[in-house]
Amino acid sequence: MIFRALLALATFVPPSLCNYTISLTSTNGITISDGNKTVVNNAAILSGTQNTTVSALKNATQGLTYELITPTVAKVQLNTTANFHGARFTAEPDTHFFGVWEYPFNYQITNKNVSFDLKGVGNNVGINWVNARAPFFLTSAGYGVYTDTLKMGSYDFTTPGEAQFIFNTSSLLYYIILPKEQGDIKSIIEQYTELSSRSEIPSTSGLGPTFWSDDFTQDFHGSVSNAEENIYDVVNHLYYNQIRATSSFADRPYGTGNRSWGNFDFDPKFYPNVEVFLKNLTDWGFDFQVWIANRAQLGTELYNKSLAEGWQYPLDLPPLGALGAALDLSIPEAYQYFEKKLEYFASIGVKGYKIDRGEEGEMPDYVQNEQMALFLQLAYDSMVQKHGATKFHNFARSAVDRSRSVTHIWNGDSHANFTGLAYSVASGIRSGLIAFGIWGSDTGGYTREGTLTPTEEVWARWMWFSAFSPVYELMLGTNHTPWYEPYTQQTVDVLKQTANLHADLTPYIKSYAYVNSKTGVPIIRALFLEAPEDSATWEVPDAYFFGSEFIVAPIVTSGGSRSVYFPKGPSKRYIEYFNKTSIHAAGTTANVSLPVTSIPVYVKEGAIITRGDIFQGNAKWVEDWQAFLFIEVFPSWDVPESRFTYYSGEGNEGKAVEIVLATNKEDRTVKVVYGDLGVEAAVLWQLKSGPKEVNLNRGGGYTTLTDVELLF
Ligand SMILES: *[C@@H]1O[C@H](CO)[C@@H](O)[C@H](O)[C@H]1NC(C)=O
Ligand SMILES: *[C@@H]1O[C@H](CO)[C@@H](O)[C@H](O)[C@H]1NC(C)=O
Ligand SMILES: *[C@@H]1O[C@H](CO)[C@@H](O)[C@H](O)[C@H]1NC(C)=O
Ligand SMILES: *[C@@H]1O[C@H](CO)[C@@H](O)[C@H](O)[C@H]1NC(C)=O
Ligand SMILES: *[C@@H]1O[C@H](CO)[C@@H](O)[C@H](O)[C@H]1NC(C)=O
Ligand SMILES: *[C@@H]1O[C@H](CO)[C@@H](O)[C@H](O)[C@H]1NC(C)=O
Ligand SMILES: *[C@@H]1O[C@H](CO)[C@@H](O)[C@H](O)[C@H]1NC(C)=O
Ligand SMILES: *[C@@H]1O[C@H](CO)[C@@H](O)[C@H](O)[C@H]1NC(C)=O
Ligand SMILES: *[C@@H]1O[C@H](CO)[C@@H](O)[C@H](O)[C@H]1NC(C)=O
Ligand SMILES: *[C@@H]1O[C@H](CO)[C@@H](O)[C@H](O)[C@H]1NC(C)=O
Ligand SMILES: *[C@@H]1O[C@H](CO)[C@@H](O)[C@H](O)[C@H]1NC(C)=O
Ligand SMILES: *[C@@H]1O[C@H](CO)[C@@H](O)[C@H](O)[C@H]1NC(C)=O
Repeated sequence: MIFRALLALATFVPPSLCNYTISLTSTNGITISDGNKTVVNNAAILSGTQNTTVSALKNATQGLTYELITPTVAKVQLNTTANFHGARFTAEPDTHFFGVWEYPFNYQITNKNVSFDLKGVGNNVGINWVNARAPFFLTSAGYGVYTDTLKMGSYDFTTPGEAQFIFNTSSLLYYIILPKEQGDIKSIIEQYTELSSRSEIPSTSGLGPTFWSDDFTQDFHGSVSNAEENIYDVVNHLYYNQIRATSSFADRPYGTGNRSWGNFDFDPKFYPNVEVFLKNLTDWGFDFQVWIANRAQLGTELYNKSLAEGWQYPLDLPPLGALGAALDLSIPEAYQYFEKKLEYFASIGVKGYKIDRGEEGEMPDYVQNEQMALFLQLAYDSMVQKHGATKFHNFARSAVDRSRSVTHIWNGDSHANFTGLAYSVASGIRSGLIAFGIWGSDTGGYTREGTLTPTEEVWARWMWFSAFSPVYELMLGTNHTPWYEPYTQQTVDVLKQTANLHADLTPYIKSYAYVNSKTGVPIIRALFLEAPEDSATWEVPDAYFFGSEFIVAPIVTSGGSRSVYFPKGPSKRYIEYFNKTSIHAAGTTANVSLPVTSIPVYVKEGAIITRGDIFQGNAKWVEDWQAFLFIEVFPSWDVPESRFTYYSGEGNEGKAVEIVLATNKEDRTVKVVYGDLGVEAAVLWQLKSGPKEVNLNRGGGYTTLTDVELLF
């Protein structure tokens, strides 16, 4: 498997790159040089019997191998009898280090002054349990390092210009990854994910809008008397308000048993007719997911069976919430049992899981990564057997490295206030840097304190952020539902505006989900991924490229104002997306103030944006619904040619179609060339005179305009 991946890597690399050489230093470190200078200084290779007493390897002839396995990837392997191994990298003191954790420690996208294990983060500022993680870091010095292991590790970035990691293993394997071309940071992520794994293209319904409750068995309105009817109440309000949606899910409680988890069923008290209910939801355009976790709650079938078989982790301390120990899934019988039990959900039409926990003390910390990888795999397998790949949506809060190929993620329990929103934006950016590309946050936050949390202002700002997130999911219910008091029509209006915008951006998001599946390059992109030459972008935690066409700058504080920096490199100028009146030069900063009915979003010169109604979901109010695609283009005389890969079709059964926008300043002609888009489509030209719509042919072709005045 790995061997084949490496072969594929090798064939990708153009031969004309600079020639890197790897060598051992006199102090038993490793350097990589580009011929002129040292580009990687792996100053020390560490080993020790305790993780607190590691020291630099004294005799590198023992157990160490190192080689360039492609022109831009070095493989380093170290085996000794010591229990802990690691490495230290040094660079200039102002070097930035990124990656490893999704959680934005100190509200940063860099790892400046951070030292932590490679495990679930837990209760912290802004968000509880932002847990996606990967043994991979990137640096502004121009390389990445991937340690290929599921063992527990710790990373230390507290010394300026230094990155150090230590893993609980006597056999350490890491890769030093160089860009394929000078400054091409995206190619480091591409090579990293070639070695590890990439996300699958999600089902379109997995992108949302998704509406769920932390507890559908309470907060009933009107004639509602159980959870099924409570969900119908949501479905009906969305319908009458014409708010787009694609799925719903039930957090606990939904099953029988102690605290509603462990008997692998639905409680008939809440779901009297679950099979009819799931069928009906499908008819109304909703997929449905349920909550699962690897925890054996006292008195349940999962508990009784795993106790009798000796599969539970013996714990010194009760885990958080006293919700039971985890099963040791490295025991094949335990793994098979769990997978088999989950098959029930797939068999009745459940289309994925919200996968919770795995980091709350229900197992020893040092197995968190191995155990979570196993649980996510079995959860995936239980769905894929029934529905097929990319036909359901699993999302977890605790996921490591290669598990991105079997689960998407959400960022845990964020606080329902502006701190939670700001940290969620930063965690979205950080999840991209470790290549967990299909990501969403609980819109409005999860941890609510008091009746009007989130406030209407927080909720509205967050809805705009979720419109420009890969996944839009929103928690309502438990006395916080937009169309019920104390919320007002304003919240319903912004919900409708943003949910419908997200649905309309689905053709764009899917196209980048395709790119993410092929290259690992995320959809939410730190500004520096698109503008690596502009050092002013390195530390921005609250603005990002969404794909490569949009800059999104969510408002994450109260009052409605913020400043936005326009990066140098990707475009000379950027135009405000909604009104299309203000244009900003690269390298400048603008102060913007917007009401809750908008968000600061900008597009590049020459942008190509695919939008439109390509997935019906719950939009049953539309008579004779038919898919329709818009190719929205922003031609500029500065950009003679730009390209976009549109992904049409469902899941992994779609196909990629090239769209080219060309401009010719001499004869004032603009042209769009397109392949078979698979649906009825039009070009939406954004011109000085306003938008101009031109219908396109099925099967591909081109369309031109002459004598036009452009926006740029
Ligand atoms: C090495 O330096 C020379 C002279 O400055 C330069 O032309 C060349 O591009 C450099 N090579 C690399 C790989 O940076
Ligand atoms: C790389 O090395 C090869 C063989 O030594 C040489 O032919 C080639 O010119 C070198 N390329 C660069 C960019 O230095
Ligand atoms: C390093 O290890 C090699 C191989 O075991 C041995 O021959 C050599 O003497 C060692 N050198 C030192 C300085 O210990
Ligand atoms: C180190 O151990 C791994 C796994 O046990 C093995 O595959 C590899 O060949 C060993 N490498 C060296 C340099 O001994
Ligand atoms: C680094 O973090 C430590 C503790 O987390 C803190 O005491 C210290 O002030 C921080 N240093 C810098 C330079 O931010
Ligand atoms: C190092 O030891 C501490 C204390 O036992 C533990 O919390 C941490 O997880 C260990 N780190 C690794 C990489 O095993
Ligand atoms: C089916 O779903 C609709 C829409 O939510 C709901 O109004 C209706 O009562 C459901 N029908 C049955 C038979 O449960
Ligand atoms: C449910 O689990 C809790 C511990 O989490 C335990 O105290 C309680 O007795 C259990 N209830 C039943 C009915 O087993
Ligand atoms: C688990 O065992 C307890 C104690 O024997 C029993 O009361 C309970 O009904 C069992 N649970 C299930 C789901 O069988
Ligand atoms: C390291 O892993 C071993 C199992 O391989 C475990 O027994 C030990 O407790 C771990 N050490 C730490 C510090 O977590
Ligand atoms: C958000 O809530 C957390 C937890 O209560 C609190 O620490 C933080 O100060 C709050 N942030 C704002 C902006 O109110
Ligand atoms: C667009 O223009 C309207 C009317 O001037 C204004 O209210 C709104 O805030 C503007 N939106 C943006 C995103 O600039």
